[in-house]
Amino acid sequence: MHFYLEPGGKLTGSIRVPGDKSMSHRSIMLGSIADGTTTVSGFLEGEDALATLAAFRAMGVNITDPEAGRLTIDGVGLRGLSPSDQVMDVGNSGTSIRLMVGLLSGQSFDSIITGDQSLLRRPMARVITPLSQMGALISSREGCPPLEVKGGRALTGLHYDLPVASAQVKSSVLLAGLYASGQTSVTEPAPTRDHTERMLAGFGYPVERQDGVIGLQGGGTLTGTDIDIPADISSAAFFLVGASIAPGSDLTLEHVGVNPTRDGIIRILRAMGADIDIINPREVGGEPVADLRVRYAPLKGIDIPVEEVPLAIDEMPAVLIAAACAEGVTVLSGAEELRVKESDRIASMAEGLTQLGIRNTVYPDGISVTGGEMSGGVIATHYDHRIAMSFAMAALRATDRLKVSDCAHVATSFPGFAELAVETGLHLEVAAE
Ligand code: S3P
Repeated sequence: MHFYLEPGGKLTGSIRVPGDKSMSHRSIMLGSIADGTTTVSGFLEGEDALATLAAFRAMGVNITDPEAGRLTIDGVGLRGLSPSDQVMDVGNSGTSIRLMVGLLSGQSFDSIITGDQSLLRRPMARVITPLSQMGALISSREGCPPLEVKGGRALTGLHYDLPVASAQVKSSVLLAGLYASGQTSVTEPAPTRDHTERMLAGFGYPVERQDGVIGLQGGGTLTGTDIDIPADISSAAFFLVGASIAPGSDLTLEHVGVNPTRDGIIRILRAMGADIDIINPREVGGEPVADLRVRYAPLKGIDIPVEEVPLAIDEMPAVLIAAACAEGVTVLSGAEELRVKESDRIASMAEGLTQLGIRNTVYPDGISVTGGEMSGGVIATHYDHRIAMSFAMAALRATDRLKVSDCAHVATSFPGFAELAVETGLHLEVAAE
């Protein structure tokens, strides 16, 4: 499935993008191991979160079919999961496998978890190392999935200094910590998304957070709750960039999660000159939420502050499209993690930008991009949803037609992207060939 885009256009109107992916995964995982019923609204019905849902159903949890983002989970309690009678396949989803392997390490039964071709290449040693130190027994294929997790292991609490700023690794260790004796804690090299900590607290599970150390005691109880998931700022990001680069744009994104560990995109775009208003900031279910109004503004290149990188890690492909439309040079550094996402996002973006005539230089940990005129062309997405959506927005400023190839993976995080993009003003057609 490919996107064909006519050049030009502007983005206008008011839209709500689908629910937050990180929170959707966690709502299923924590709701499943809670005592009692959890109701979720705003759930992302994208392939990744649905893969997590299917895996917990396979482990005996009763979860209703999501309907307009609403579902109910009959929690089975911390020790109530049962073995899946099949290999659990979580498709493209790194968050599912890395968080689940922590949780599965503490079960009484064995599990096998796998995924698609992209996931089979993604590094898992980063979770296997700390989980093994806690007493887990996990086998992998040279550090990559499939992962076989042995059950019946007695886990002991661990203090772990995270070598990479990764919310997935932090969350995996904390989820194993629920099943470990004593205290489990992690120190982060830089703040990363804190949805696990916030949501655990929402389920009534005490989590200590002090000076970059996050800790919990094993063996407690989660109590079912109601979760209202806001729109995903990582999905809103494509529209923030699109409206910022397309003259005449005036677009409002409703009910967006603006958790301070996720809103780096707003600060980065503002530093480039973007015109973004944060309207009616409020707190919904323990998470900050706001409407974002974005209007076209001329952008300038910047050195992206390295401390913003983990706070905007998934938004960097979109930021690089903004950089291509900015005056001067934008430099991204400290972003080697982008190389181990759904694709090598530094390489994928460099290739696509070069294809459109945008000068760029690649470094091991980043890229510099010189703004300029973008031509049309054919973009390879490397089957990466965020590469596809970022280059779709590039059409707003391209001088000629664009084909963005292999866009089926957009459905992993943003079902309905093409429809919303057309509704707001992108000249986009979806075609099988
Ligand atoms: C996520 C954490 C990030 C992010 C991913 C979702 C999460 O990954 O890129 O899309 O929900 O915890 P890392 O932990 O690998 O940085």
